Amino acid sequence: MEITQVCGVYWSATGNTRRTVENIAQALAEAMGCPCRLEDITPPGKRARTLDFAPGELAVVGSPTYAGKLPNKILPEFQTKLRGNGALAVGVVTFGNRSFDNSLAELCAVLEAGGFCTVAAGAFVGRHAFTDKLADGRPDWGDRREMADFAKRTAEKVKGLTELPGPVTVPGDAAAPYYVPKGTDGQPAKFLKAKPRTRPDRCCNCGVCARVCPMGAIDRDDVSSVPGTCIKCQACIRRCTRQAKYFEDPAFLSHVAMLEQSFAHPKQNQVFL
Ligand SMILES: Cc1cc2nc3c(=O)[nH]c(=O)nc-3n(C[C@H](O)[C@H](O)[C@H](O)COP(=O)(O)O)c2cc1C
Ligand code: SF4
Ligand code: SF4
Repeated sequence: MEITQVCGVYWSATGNTRRTVENIAQALAEAMGCPCRLEDITPPGKRARTLDFAPGELAVVGSPTYAGKLPNKILPEFQTKLRGNGALAVGVVTFGNRSFDNSLAELCAVLEAGGFCTVAAGAFVGRHAFTDKLADGRPDWGDRREMADFAKRTAEKVKGLTELPGPVTVPGDAAAPYYVPKGTDGQPAKFLKAKPRTRPDRCCNCGVCARVCPMGAIDRDDVSSVPGTCIKCQACIRRCTRQAKYFEDPAFLSHVAMLEQSFAHPKQNQVFL
């Protein structure tokens, strides 16, 4: 099957999914001998647009895993703003070394329901947004080699297609409930309402945190105030060069400590074709 264009589409708060989708989409375009376009749907304004695809196009669509599924506040945009119209798609999730549980199954189901034909899928490890102690430095060069290999194998599969393929088979259950985060005591850690705090002695009011918040939750005139919905994505924490932002919610910190204790052993990427 001929492909006219590869398009990498990603929602990525701390950069892992962006890096992963960019690598795979560019390698795929090279292997297919066609142009590559990238669409960042992380900022609220960018997510509001509808992206229409056409037969003959190949979309590489990426999302992080949040609580074992797609981020629930972003799910409606994945469901309604990406229109496949018979284009092929590669589903990509990243995860922070615990598990991708059901996120890849959910993404592939959303893509199929949105008019795409899923031809391949992959779950790739990236540094956990909550802590540098899980998968620090990933995706690394080894991961990039695996992404390139995945792209090459996907291109070979697409070139060999004579008709639209049936949905790619991936593990997990798209309808499964969210993973319940636990604390170090093994009990559910309830931190839904937690919001980042700001150290006034470090903050220089540069406004970066408010600009990068994918929920538009931080007040641009007073960055210490977070009137909107915080999804704990850590974009503001990671992008503040003065380490002025932090979480102090005890339940959140207990969950992070539990992850560090239980999920430090490096996990592997998994691909499905
Ligand atoms: C709110 C939240 C929930 C997360 N849940 C999971 C999870 O269930 N399993 C896991 O392995 N990693 C989990 N992670 C880690 C992210 O999936 C991982 O860091 C991802 O690569 C971040 O993608 P990004 O850099 O594109 O934002 C979670 C991260 C956040 C912020
Ligand atoms: S990014 Fe950091 S220094 Fe800049 S306004 Fe936000 S908290 Fe302050
Ligand atoms: S305020 Fe919450 S949602 Fe916004 S960037 Fe920070 S952690 Fe993410």
